[in-house]
Amino acid sequence: MNEQPELSLRVASRRLVAEDILAFDLVESNGGLLPAFEPGAHINLHLPGGHIRSYSLYGRPDERDRYRIAVLRAEDGRGGSKVVHDALQNGDVVMTSAPANCFALVEAPMTWLFAGGIGITPLICMAWSMWLRGRRFALHYCARSALKMAFRDELANLPFADSVHLHFNDDVLPLDPASALRESASEAHVYTCGPAGFIDWIEQAARSVGIAGSQLHHERFSGETDSSGPEFEVYLATSKRRLPVRPGETMLEAITRAGISVNAVCEQGVCGACLTPVLDGKPDHRDQVLTDEEREANRLVALCCSRSFSTCLTLDL
Ligand code: FES
Repeated sequence: MNEQPELSLRVASRRLVAEDILAFDLVESNGGLLPAFEPGAHINLHLPGGHIRSYSLYGRPDERDRYRIAVLRAEDGRGGSKVVHDALQNGDVVMTSAPANCFALVEAPMTWLFAGGIGITPLICMAWSMWLRGRRFALHYCARSALKMAFRDELANLPFADSVHLHFNDDVLPLDPASALRESASEAHVYTCGPAGFIDWIEQAARSVGIAGSQLHHERFSGETDSSGPEFEVYLATSKRRLPVRPGETMLEAITRAGISVNAVCEQGVCGACLTPVLDGKPDHRDQVLTDEEREANRLVALCCSRSFSTCLTLDL
């Protein structure tokens, strides 16, 4: 965890926006303007206990006096969301990074936004951007129930409410992504944020109507990384050390355990801070940062989540 926070922000508002979901407005401690951000951007919160967690900004992208985030309390997570819920109160000061973006919008004649659960946050910001610039878009938002749907009432009152479609698993408003996407398959770009299964479902539907992989973009929920797989070895070429990476362990954990400091922030494969050059071997990429072309080139690997298809991976470390 080498990231140094850049901003000192004060909690100006904390409110419940759905079951187990709190929304926070964070303002500059001295009341100044904040650095601009692009739709899809996130900030890293530096929390008590050394936790650093990434949260997407959901507010209007032209809003400079506050950053808006929403946090789902994950009982089975790694503890960061519980710290946010329990410790971050109105008036508290929290240190954060500046905004960064791993989920950027591409200009397209039609943009489809699909949110599953708390994955709505970056997509609200994208919808604002589309509406402000007069672009064509539609936002489909799925939640298990109305009670678990963040911002349900607010979305109904936004100036682009006609472009927002809500779907609940316990109601009769099913989403059929293939039929929604069919009409504009050749010119559409599709952005999905939510659990892995939701993203797979949307992207399979998109492919089934002829939407190319290059038109699909996604960001998984934070905390969803899979470190399963057999033991392999990393060889650190610079320090000339060989380290085993045990089943269920990440390369980051194995390297840190050996006393070597590595840059890492999100530890979820979304920020890119731990990307490290690969000198030999074939990585099993499990991050959300590298493009398909970068994965095929195998020149970089995310230490916090990826594993190895080869028995040994040689790293430039
Ligand atoms: Fe963020 Fe690995 S620490 S991608």
